[in-house]
Amino acid sequence: MYIQTMQPKVDTVFETCDRIWINANLATFDEAIAQPYGALSNQAIGVRAGRIVAIAPMAQFHADAVCADVVDARGGWMTPGLVDAHTHLVFAGSRAKEFEQRLLGASYEEIARSGGGIISTVRATREASVDELVVLSEPRLLALMKEGVTSVEIKSGYGLSLEGELNMLRAARKLGERHPVRVSTSLLAAHALPPEYKDDADGYIDLVCNEIIPAAVAEGLADAVDVFCEGIAFSPAQCERVFQAAQAQGLGIRAHVEQLSNLHGAALAARYGAWSVDHLEWLDEDGVKAIAAADTVATLLPGAFYFLRDTQVPPIELLRRHGVGMAVATDLNPGSSPLASLRLAMNMACTLFRFTPEEALAGASRFGAQALGLAGQAGQLKAGLQADMVLWDIDHPAELAYQFGVNLVRQRIVAGEVRNV
Ligand code: NIG
Ligand code: FE
Repeated sequence: MYIQTMQPKVDTVFETCDRIWINANLATFDEAIAQPYGALSNQAIGVRAGRIVAIAPMAQFHADAVCADVVDARGGWMTPGLVDAHTHLVFAGSRAKEFEQRLLGASYEEIARSGGGIISTVRATREASVDELVVLSEPRLLALMKEGVTSVEIKSGYGLSLEGELNMLRAARKLGERHPVRVSTSLLAAHALPPEYKDDADGYIDLVCNEIIPAAVAEGLADAVDVFCEGIAFSPAQCERVFQAAQAQGLGIRAHVEQLSNLHGAALAARYGAWSVDHLEWLDEDGVKAIAAADTVATLLPGAFYFLRDTQVPPIELLRRHGVGMAVATDLNPGSSPLASLRLAMNMACTLFRFTPEEALAGASRFGAQALGLAGQAGQLKAGLQADMVLWDIDHPAELAYQFGVNLVRQRIVAGEVRNV
């Protein structure tokens, strides 16, 4: 029998849902819910037209008052779909030989300076067509998706020419069209100096600003611009020119900074309102304050720290103290982080950087979304947001950062539809 509820409004909303999950525990990451993980136990969550429209305790849900498709979560945990906010997953070739060289003592920088590193991936990537790049990159994307990723950022940066960069972004867009995953693209033309511009880095930055950025924008290929601000890549002054060109075109801004040294790139990017600054091993307190003031996300990449056998730990405690939102991402790439598991990146954030499991999961959801300029659209369970969610076979959300190598996804949901991979 239908019993009148104290909150008739909630029932009304449930009646108009396309689908409702019941008996779910939610890790909402809604800042209005003052519980670890923004947790709510024993809830119903309803979606309509691809968005979350209702969240309410089971006591307020009445099965005979709704006509939607009802899925019983049987006490499982629902989280926002995972967001991998930093990947270079479109590339050709392999750098396994460099891995061997590094294990024999060569450093990442030495390999880069002797013509290997990023440039060796550029050679292989330039030779591949857009369709070949799609085929080569698909297994990496699918591996992320299988573990619960529903939004992924993909960078260019191995083309380093007008056509090479555009082709990488075209491949990234195609991947997003072919698979149930939201792809955000970043134009990382300022990743390394291509051989044609040897000794003319400023000339290459002219090409990036005057030709590559406008062409990518004209074709709708880039959501943001990215740079590698480092001794082996581009100076702060050169990166600033890229930020100015990007800002003029309305692109988001993000930057690889303070990975191998401190050039104060984070503060520079923050001055341009960057969505995210990434790596940050050498970030100092002034840099932390600058990104806190700009509400720029700090994206930590423990996979690169691990794989490069780095020892300089990013200043997590300072970031925490200044209230900086911290994202965790894979940095999936062939040179510094051949890691196609965001769950393992979360575990590494805890073991190597001393994140709490809650921070790791927030970093792979709420703050990952913010790092992509998607705050308020994805990364949380809240009415009005995209219904991108994962239902997990776990008893507690800490398990997502604790276990690795075991796939715990029961249902992967994109825009309100179950899209298991
Ligand atoms: O995020 N730091 C610069 N770029 C990549 C590495 C790219 C590569 O080595 O191919 C990174 O670590
Ligand atoms: Fe990177």
